[in-house]
Amino acid sequence: MRLRHGARWVVPPVNGGVRAPEPDVETVDRPVVAELSEVAVRYSNGALGVERISFEVRAGQIVALFGPNGAGKTTSVRALCGFLRSEQTRIERGRVTLLDRDVTGLEAHKIARMGVSFVPERDKVFANLTVADNLRAAGDLPRQRQALHDRLDQVFELFPALADLSRQAAGQLSGGQQQMLALGRAVLRHPRLLVVDELTLGLHHSLHEPLFDALQRITRNGTAVIVVDESAGFSLDVAHHCYLLVGGVVRDSGPPEKFRGSELLAAGYVEA
Ligand SMILES: Nc1ncnc2c1ncn2[C@@H]1O[C@H](COP(=O)(O)OP(=O)(O)O)[C@@H](O)[C@H]1O
Ligand SMILES: [Mg+2]
Repeated sequence: MRLRHGARWVVPPVNGGVRAPEPDVETVDRPVVAELSEVAVRYSNGALGVERISFEVRAGQIVALFGPNGAGKTTSVRALCGFLRSEQTRIERGRVTLLDRDVTGLEAHKIARMGVSFVPERDKVFANLTVADNLRAAGDLPRQRQALHDRLDQVFELFPALADLSRQAAGQLSGGQQQMLALGRAVLRHPRLLVVDELTLGLHHSLHEPLFDALQRITRNGTAVIVVDESAGFSLDVAHHCYLLVGGVVRDSGPPEKFRGSELLAAGYVEA
């Protein structure tokens, strides 16, 4: 494998407000929420999406997946969330486990009902619906009016900007506002696991910190988070555990300290 520099893999400058995981909050003994074990995915055109991916996330943990373009980050999280089936794509080998249950190849809606919220890279909101209607369409919401209001309040506490935008069409929001709405929809369901593919891609740098900060707040009630992002700096600040994917396999994994200052991460690279 040859390494070459790529422009897309960005490490932002030293940041201010995002806190490192609190050292007294020990997450390694918490129960495993989701696990990929030696997963291989082949796309319907014959292309290998990932070759051998294993990772796990525990309750209350933030797990960051790094890696250059084409490394298999999206394929991995879609395999976990059941978002491969519509493309006639298969998990060819390995196992996906969710809350101790084998969910390999299970439909997305069943995985969602088990408590997984997925924020994909694209098409994450209903552009033609208002913000309020996007939230109401989140699914798995309490029927009771007061309980629903309480949950909406939690979302507006997390993203106060959304409260003022509730009657706007989601398609008219900025990219950052749409990401907040997508995360709001996801957490409104009180998921056991939140999976976010490309948290800050294409968004103004000033939004990166608040978005990562929101992830930290989301884990406080025990929600597990898997985040894929190109800005390794913030990911390393918030993650409890990291996996570096390259060419469809896990090249390295460990606590964020292991990767901080890593030349590979700092320089960015893609497989030639
Ligand atoms: N819909 C698809 N059809 C065929 N191949 C795909 C598709 N999506 C991704 N791939 C291939 O799977 C591999 C992993 O891609 P992806 O999971 O998107 O990586 P990443 O998210 O890390 O950029 C790449 O070789 C990519 O070309
Ligand atoms: Mg991707």
